[in-house]
Amino acid sequence: MTSLASTRMSIPFFRYPHLFAQQREEILKAITAVMDRGAYILQNDLVEFESALASFTGAKHALGVANGTDGLNIALRAAGIGAGDEVIVPSHTYVASAASIHFADARPVLVDCGPDHMIDPSAVAAAVGPRTAAIMPVQLNGRTCDMDALQAIADRHGLAPIEDAAQALGSKFKGRNAGTFGIAAEFSFYPAKVLGCFGDGGGLTTNDSAMARKMSLLRDHGRDENGLVVTWGLNSRLDNLQAAILNVKFQHLELEIARRREIARLYREGLQDVEDFVVPPGPDDDPDHFDVYQNYEVESGQRDALRRQLEEDGIRTIIQWAGKPIHQFEGLGLGGANLPVTDRLFTRCFLLPMNTSLTNEEVEYICERIRKFHG
Ligand SMILES: Cc1ncc(COP(=O)(O)O)c(C=O)c1O
Repeated sequence: MTSLASTRMSIPFFRYPHLFAQQREEILKAITAVMDRGAYILQNDLVEFESALASFTGAKHALGVANGTDGLNIALRAAGIGAGDEVIVPSHTYVASAASIHFADARPVLVDCGPDHMIDPSAVAAAVGPRTAAIMPVQLNGRTCDMDALQAIADRHGLAPIEDAAQALGSKFKGRNAGTFGIAAEFSFYPAKVLGCFGDGGGLTTNDSAMARKMSLLRDHGRDENGLVVTWGLNSRLDNLQAAILNVKFQHLELEIARRREIARLYREGLQDVEDFVVPPGPDDDPDHFDVYQNYEVESGQRDALRRQLEEDGIRTIIQWAGKPIHQFEGLGLGGANLPVTDRLFTRCFLLPMNTSLTNEEVEYICERIRKFHG
């Protein structure tokens, strides 16, 4: 990467209008078609989307739900998890992962992450106890965890992994897609996600037909194909209008993932030799992992000063979860956990802009400013 003469740029963390601008005509056509048909709830666009999600991930079944958090909650309930149960989940995740467990009446047991920022399998093994009913691996930042290690622990204790793949559509471990491990998996289609709609949206995948049926009932008032109520359920359907938008976006997904991987390669080339600065693995560094780079989470030993300097340079960065992992949010009553790797990480980590609106020149400018700061 060549060094830029640094003319000041202005680079937001995310450009929401870009989500519409890049496929404006196609999206308007899809929205208009839905509205002309008056097809809003549980209609064909949703069925089409569910079949696209199943075939893209390689899962046998896929369902659209109202958002990722509901998706996780529905998967937990369908797996029979409830009062008295514990579910092991990393503390370095969105509060939604733990909230879905809490609202299934179970208890989230927060564990540490490893140096790769992902749930640490040895911490999971140590946390398994008599009440453990499930493990929730979080496929964080667009990377799928080492599922061999987690599955081995799950098998040893007869537990079911329920994947939080909210950030990881399209990512793979050993050639297998996020969303196909364990008993069920959830995706989020929040606008800023790798595949994002224009509001809230979520998906569920599973290879287990009984789970698919239970999750389908749970997301629609417990109603079967004939509309008869056969059990208690929620109202958590993916809107048909959002499904129609996602059907358009799906056609561009592979290209968008390729662009994210290209940006990650540029960042890595530009930043890997910077002292006291840690970048994620490059897209071709580990044949076991195919990463989609939902986020680009870096570490700096001088994080706060660096972020202030980047702000002055016109570059917006953020720290995930507003700067705290879940065990540090006092209001949740989940404190007291001894999670030294996560605690240290949260004095160092932050996110650089990572989205398909970024130009190579912008990425180059960001790298150049970081290199200059770190001297
Ligand atoms: C790791 C993780 N889990 C769960 C969720 C919840 O998804 P949603 O916002 O669609 O409810 C998100 C979304 O931001 C997430 O990043």
